[in-house]
Amino acid sequence: MLGTAHLAGALDGLRLSLHVLAAAVWVGGQVTLAGLVPAARKVGPEAPRTLARAFARLQWPAYAVLLATGVWNVGAVGSDAHGAWQAVLGAKIAVVLLSGLAAGLHTRTRSRRALAVWGAVAGTSSVAALVMGVFLAG
Ligand code: HEM
Repeated sequence: MLGTAHLAGALDGLRLSLHVLAAAVWVGGQVTLAGLVPAARKVGPEAPRTLARAFARLQWPAYAVLLATGVWNVGAVGSDAHGAWQAVLGAKIAVVLLSGLAAGLHTRTRSRRALAVWGAVAGTSSVAALVMGVFLAG
């Protein structure tokens, strides 16, 4: 159909690419690490924690990029937003902050039960943020 598909401008392209790349590390990394844990346990009792520490060195910079490019996103597209878009953005920011808090508690706790609960909360809220992001992008 004429006049619908168009390329993003250079700055929009950079902004969204950084946001999506950071989302790939934050969300994709959690999913991948969760899938690797059973195999890591076979390597040795400390292997899962060693992997988690290595991932943390990528995970938190990615989270920082998500927060920075998220604010940039709002500045770039949020000016003429209507009620539903703003409501989704508000919900998204809430789950983003929850995912950061849960991931932080997950890395600090010593209890196996809390480890599982905060890991699940971090993963679920991160995927929810991703899905809300796709809807915000329209
Ligand atoms: C866990 C953290 C986050 C994840 C996983 C995430 C993920 C995403 C994804 C996958 C998109 C869709 C990109 C596209 O379809 O082109 C997106 C868009 C968007 N995100 Fe995020 N995001 C996160 C944090 C944030 C934060 C903290 C904010 C605001 C402060 C934010 C605001 C936005 C906005 C406004 C859009 C739409 C951009 C546009 O239409 O140009 N995001 N996000």
